[in-house]
Amino acid sequence: MAAEQNEKLALRVQLMPRDTNPLGTVFGGVILSLIDQAGFDEARRHGLHRWVTVAFHGVEFKRPVRVGDRVSLFTRTIKTGTCSVEVGVRVEAHRFQSEEVVEVTSGSLTMVSVDADGHSIPFSSPPTLATPEGQDL
Ligand SMILES: CC(C)(COP(=O)(O)OP(=O)(O)OC[C@H]1O[C@@H](n2cnc3c(N)ncnc32)[C@H](O)[C@@H]1OP(=O)(O)O)[C@@H](O)C(=O)NCCC(=O)NCCS
Repeated sequence: MAAEQNEKLALRVQLMPRDTNPLGTVFGGVILSLIDQAGFDEARRHGLHRWVTVAFHGVEFKRPVRVGDRVSLFTRTIKTGTCSVEVGVRVEAHRFQSEEVVEVTSGSLTMVSVDADGHSIPFSSPPTLATPEGQDL
């Protein structure tokens, strides 16, 4: 499992029996949820704000993911605007019972930085989140 140029590893997780659909393979919604989390990880690099997902683009499930597979989510910033960042996500599965690594899913999502009221704000503005100690950054 290796990152391609301009990508970074955002998330790695092993899929469990609870993540399956009635066919016994991993439910696509679980992968979408992981993509959402990976997108946040990438967006956060552009500013310490609340980030919300406004759209998924072209997500393609190319191969099934199975119980026990370890999936790695690699992200890269495709495009930046004023309040939005489009993040590309590529998902690889390291099969449970072999050394095989396959690309299983790819796509992108657009994240938008918002204020405490949920209104979009430029992500280049000063951080709007508080530290764990409760002090404003
Ligand atoms: C995200 C949200 C705040 C955007 O509101 P909005 O009124 O469209 O905000 P703006 O018009 O200021 O647009 C903000 C940015 O989002 C982008 N954007 C809005 N809708 C988009 C879409 N469907 N696809 C891609 N980008 C979009 C705009 O182009 C703009 O980008 P820029 O500032 O970089 O040029 C609003 O749609 C929202 O709250 N959505 C729900 C988010 C959420 O709850 N997500 C979790 C899923 S349950």
